[in-house]
Amino acid sequence: MKIFIDTASIKEIREAASLGLLDGVTTNPSLVAKEGKNFRAMLDEILAIVDGPVSAEVIATDYEGILKEGRELAAIHKNIVVKVPLIKEGLKAVRTLSSEGVKTNVTLCFSPAQALLAAKAGASYISPFVGRLDDISHNGMQLIEEIVQIYRNYDYQTEVLVASIRHPLHFVEAALIGADVCTMPFSVIDKLFNHPLTDSGLKKFLSDWEKTQK
Ligand code: G3P
Repeated sequence: MKIFIDTASIKEIREAASLGLLDGVTTNPSLVAKEGKNFRAMLDEILAIVDGPVSAEVIATDYEGILKEGRELAAIHKNIVVKVPLIKEGLKAVRTLSSEGVKTNVTLCFSPAQALLAAKAGASYISPFVGRLDDISHNGMQLIEEIVQIYRNYDYQTEVLVASIRHPLHFVEAALIGADVCTMPFSVIDKLFNHPLTDSGLKKFLSDWEKTQK
């Protein structure tokens, strides 16, 4: 399963990339706004750090506007993936962009029906938001199971990119289901390394070794 970081923070991207396990980056308008920097300059910095897919979201919500922004974003670099909201105009634009060879990530997916339509439109990635579904007492991971099953049934090539991940269990469950990608905030990536038995076991190994040095 590929690991993407879900942030626009250059510091976090640099730190995650230094771990040697980072496959790509996803951003969204809220994450970009949080950093308070120029979007284009930010993208250039991210593209210089990570040699993998970098999702950049369009702001337009009409077909022509999405196409214009999408084409401009795609022209920046071969690793740019144009992130498009899952609305009618968005999927129409995804169909066109995909026919032009532009990679797309269809975002704000909350149902299996939406995911099926995105695959039919030729999306490179579908981004179902598991945490936001859990927040309203729906089962986010059940949506991932359903999408993976549907894509298998029809051999769709669209990759399932699990988004809105809140904790390590989401990551594990996504891997058990067979999702293609997980995108996570740095705080969750950091937690994946931890286990208290690793810490206590290492402490014991080192203290036992210390005794042999006397
Ligand atoms: O980038 C899309 C998604 O991962 C956002 O997550 O935590 O804002 O629900 P969140």
